[in-house]
Amino acid sequence: MQTTFNRRHLLGIRELQAGEINHLLDTAETFREVSQRHIKKVPALQGRTVINLFFEPSTRTRTSFEIAAKRLSADAVNVSVSTSSVTKGETLLDTARNLEAMAPDCIVIRHSMAGAPLHLARMTNAPIVNAGDGAHEHPTQALLDALTIREYKGRIEGLKVAIVGDILHSRVARSNIYLLTKLGASVSVGGPGTLVPDDFAEVVDNGLRIEKRFEDAIEGADVVMILRIQRERQDAAFFPSMREYAVHYGLQPRHLARAAPDAIVMHPGPMNRGVEISSEIADGSQSLILDQVTNGVAVRMAVLYLLAGGSPAEPAEQKPAKKQKRKVNHE
Ligand code: CP
Repeated sequence: MQTTFNRRHLLGIRELQAGEINHLLDTAETFREVSQRHIKKVPALQGRTVINLFFEPSTRTRTSFEIAAKRLSADAVNVSVSTSSVTKGETLLDTARNLEAMAPDCIVIRHSMAGAPLHLARMTNAPIVNAGDGAHEHPTQALLDALTIREYKGRIEGLKVAIVGDILHSRVARSNIYLLTKLGASVSVGGPGTLVPDDFAEVVDNGLRIEKRFEDAIEGADVVMILRIQRERQDAAFFPSMREYAVHYGLQPRHLARAAPDAIVMHPGPMNRGVEISSEIADGSQSLILDQVTNGVAVRMAVLYLLAGGSPAEPAEQKPAKKQKRKVNHE
């Protein structure tokens, strides 16, 4: 079993082995204390450059990648897509190739198209981090969620985790289902029938339960993870109205009472208070929503450290000779 993380890119959780995930989490744990220091900086990536290329809005992910890079002493550059030459018709690939020509050590990308990070990983030489691609994956979100669960529950193996809400359109749900089942948790998903797909067959045998009744998914759970309605990815009406969604599927204290008494509540953000979650729960004693955000910095420090020079990378895939000439020498 692979117990280190020697990949060139972080594109998703699905392809990772449990040992690689644990190595990422262990590395993140070592970085957590940096953010507690008076001077929140280590020289681990001094002289390296990280480019954040976000084609979709973000508060938590983009900021924490930037903070993570800066706490590792890397130079962090945020490309504002709305003021970039993308608005003049430049393609994703040409944009990435032009950024690559400036010798970054890592490109972090968020895009509405599932597979966009994989496309760049195949066509450029820079290490690529997927910061969320369509409804496909959001690997660093799942890692920070796992780090938070480990911090508060001491383990992941054997825990009952309920993921409720808009599973169909959620990249967070997919990455978490892959990660949590690989690490031995029992995962149940629940929500309106139209938003809970039956297409996770490969993980159903590996510890995933699909519940059509939202309350059944929560029953006895050690962790209750609530997801937002992803309206930006819905091309049809999946329920009559937000008001009805809030009445029937918004997490209220009476629902949480069905989970284990010491259950923790998580939400990746952004939250729609009064829709999928009541303020009483979001701000309650079981909520770890802001702890997740704190752990996001440590996880992204670990990912950047391992991909942009903190650990030997696996050999680059064969690329055209012209591209190879551009390859950055980390020695
Ligand atoms: N959880 C998450 O990805 O939040 P942002 O969209 O604010 O980055």
